Amino acid sequence: MNRRYRKTIIAGNWKMNMTASETRKFAEDMRAIAPRAKWCEVVVCVPACNITAATKAFKDLHVSVGAENLYYEKSGAFTGEISADMLKDLGVKYVIIGHSERRQYFGETDFSVNKKVHAALEAGMHPIICVGESLEQRELGITMELIALQVKSALAGVSAEKVRKCVIAYEPVWAIGTGKTATSEQAAEVCTFIRTTVRHLYGARVARSVTIQYGGSMKPANAAELLSQPDIDGGLIGGAALKAKDFVEIINAANQD
Ligand code: PGA
Repeated sequence: MNRRYRKTIIAGNWKMNMTASETRKFAEDMRAIAPRAKWCEVVVCVPACNITAATKAFKDLHVSVGAENLYYEKSGAFTGEISADMLKDLGVKYVIIGHSERRQYFGETDFSVNKKVHAALEAGMHPIICVGESLEQRELGITMELIALQVKSALAGVSAEKVRKCVIAYEPVWAIGTGKTATSEQAAEVCTFIRTTVRHLYGARVARSVTIQYGGSMKPANAAELLSQPDIDGGLIGGAALKAKDFVEIINAANQD
């Protein structure tokens, strides 16, 4: 983390978990443990149908509510889809774009990711752009090329001013939900590379203001170590964000003096 130049953001990604009632219960549990979120912003990205319940439940907890996806068109005949304006109107501040599960199961491509990033920014939200390599790609030695390509395509046509509003999450696919965490060296290496990529595109001042998260089996036991890396400015947390106690411990790890 580098709190001087950029925001630290601890974000939960609930995926397809938690009902509205469970959302309320989670907020109560969190309130009882009282996280020390002095230095970081806390976000919980919830299924779209629970956004209203979440904004109410988290209101006095200083937790921002995020969404897990959007569709890039403004409105129209796109049955089942949700637009950026609809999310914004519900009080959504962050939206995850291009999570590897969406790339893998729902046909998300670098092209659609870029369109969604533009839609989120235009609506005044902060996209959390996910990039990351598969195990096969890591073993082939093409991690950096792939990450550079994903970052460049996601940001294509985005102005320097708007890039500052983006969060980039490095999520190695082989570490998501597998219990296998990247070592802090592996995570730091790629996060630093992402910042270098942003620097080549937008210059040093913009690059140092962008929040870059790590995601992939982050948990209380490894959060402090990962977050101590200068280019890792927070986490995107799946499994451990479903338990209030674990999530709060990760928040506390990001808020040590
Ligand atoms: P995980 O998921 O923490 O369960 O590995 C992270 C993510 O997919 O964002």
